[in-house]
Amino acid sequence: MAKTRTVTVTDNATGKSFEAPVIEGTHGRPVIDIKGISQELGYFVHDPGYAFTSSCRSAVTYIDGEQGVLLYRGYPIEQLAERSNYLEVCYLLMFGELPTPEQWEEFNILVRRHTMVHEGIRRFMNGYRADAHPMGMLVGIIGALSTFYHDSLDINDPANRELSAVRLIAKMPTIAADAYKYTIGQPYMYPVNSLGYVENFLQMMFAVRAEPYVPNPVAVRALELMLILHADHEQNASTSTVRLAGSSGTNPFAAVAAGIATLWGPAHGGANEAVINMLEAISDPNDIPKYVERAKDKNDPFRLMGFGHRVYKNFDPRATIIRQACHDLLADLDSKNEPLFEIARQLEEIALKDDYFIERKLYPNVDFYSGIILSALGIPLNMFTAIFAMARTVGWISQWLEMMVDEDQRIGRPQQVYIGAARRDYLAMVDRG
Ligand code: SDX
Repeated sequence: MAKTRTVTVTDNATGKSFEAPVIEGTHGRPVIDIKGISQELGYFVHDPGYAFTSSCRSAVTYIDGEQGVLLYRGYPIEQLAERSNYLEVCYLLMFGELPTPEQWEEFNILVRRHTMVHEGIRRFMNGYRADAHPMGMLVGIIGALSTFYHDSLDINDPANRELSAVRLIAKMPTIAADAYKYTIGQPYMYPVNSLGYVENFLQMMFAVRAEPYVPNPVAVRALELMLILHADHEQNASTSTVRLAGSSGTNPFAAVAAGIATLWGPAHGGANEAVINMLEAISDPNDIPKYVERAKDKNDPFRLMGFGHRVYKNFDPRATIIRQACHDLLADLDSKNEPLFEIARQLEEIALKDDYFIERKLYPNVDFYSGIILSALGIPLNMFTAIFAMARTVGWISQWLEMMVDEDQRIGRPQQVYIGAARRDYLAMVDRG
């Protein structure tokens, strides 16, 4: 039996030491199991934002931030982007293997069977103001799904867990497209199950009942690529939220709604919308140096949106793929978005030569170019993060499924360093002041 690798932790105040076991995975940095440090030496460990903390063992996705590597179940993102499709990636992330032809056929039929939503969901949606942000609608409606689908809420039943996962993957496009239709005052479209997953979404977004609609194959391929690239990404903020919510035993719809709320933030999935706002604010390439200086000024809250990443300290492989797809799409569609793409390209060039960004290893991330593609596809700005949420639903639910069968998992409950007032007795009002 191989001897377990350990790291010695010594408390210099007492001279007491503890041999902390090391856990090694298939790829990536080994981790120290710190439970014993608390039990043997009496310390907790401190890591705000969990930048250096492993929260779980996972086989779903692997990122190497230094090498710019992203693997879904071991397959490089570049190969999946070029050769797979989003629904096949959903199968891979959920079940761990690429589907056989029979499994693919069965999964396709299963997902198509769940694309419609209960009519009550549309009455729910009609309660929002017309200017509601689609992400605010998704948070509410996905959370409410648990009140419509009581037959798949037993989280201890594997068949219920899988049915809820399929329902979320199948219904997100319908609900996202409904949110868009509602905000523009057009009647909802229904899924057309003879179409593929992406074609179906585009027809629910852009078709009107008065006319036939055929999705542009160039747009279908571009959006398929975006969904693949955004499907999962290890323990990012929104996935960690889904796991933490799920660790309490809540239903998967509520847990995913919590993930959607987290993704909405501009430091996370909301960055794609913030990038377009930033590029439009810059508007003139001659102003780029001024904005780069602002991004470096600690007294200025302005950040280069779409730049930097907690894990990628080299290029984000997704950004590299999206940049090329952006260039190709704009050429194919002869799109009016070229000025924004040109500003983005020059901004990237200038920032990557600037010591401030080089020293801090700040590179374009997945959000830097994605907004330009979505904009070229005619998707409105306020739907960008909703598209990200639609893509990431499979990642959230695959990580939730993995957590539900992980023997290590228990309710998430971090510690803290208390810096408040020392214990003191209550003072009656008359004794105060
Ligand atoms: C996503 O985690 C994931 O996997 C997320 C994601 C996924 O697929 O799930 O990849 C999706 O969320 C991508 C990130 C989208 N967010 C943005 O583009 C917003 C802009 N980026 C920053 O807010 C920031 O880079 C973060 C939030 C992405 C990362 O923050 P970190 O790791 O906490 O880095 P940091 O804030 O500690 O920054 C380190 C330094 C700081 O300067 P110093 O204090 O060292 O002087 O870099 C600076 C920061 O001020 N910095 C930036 C910057 N990002 C970091 N300065 C200017 N512009 C930026 N964008």
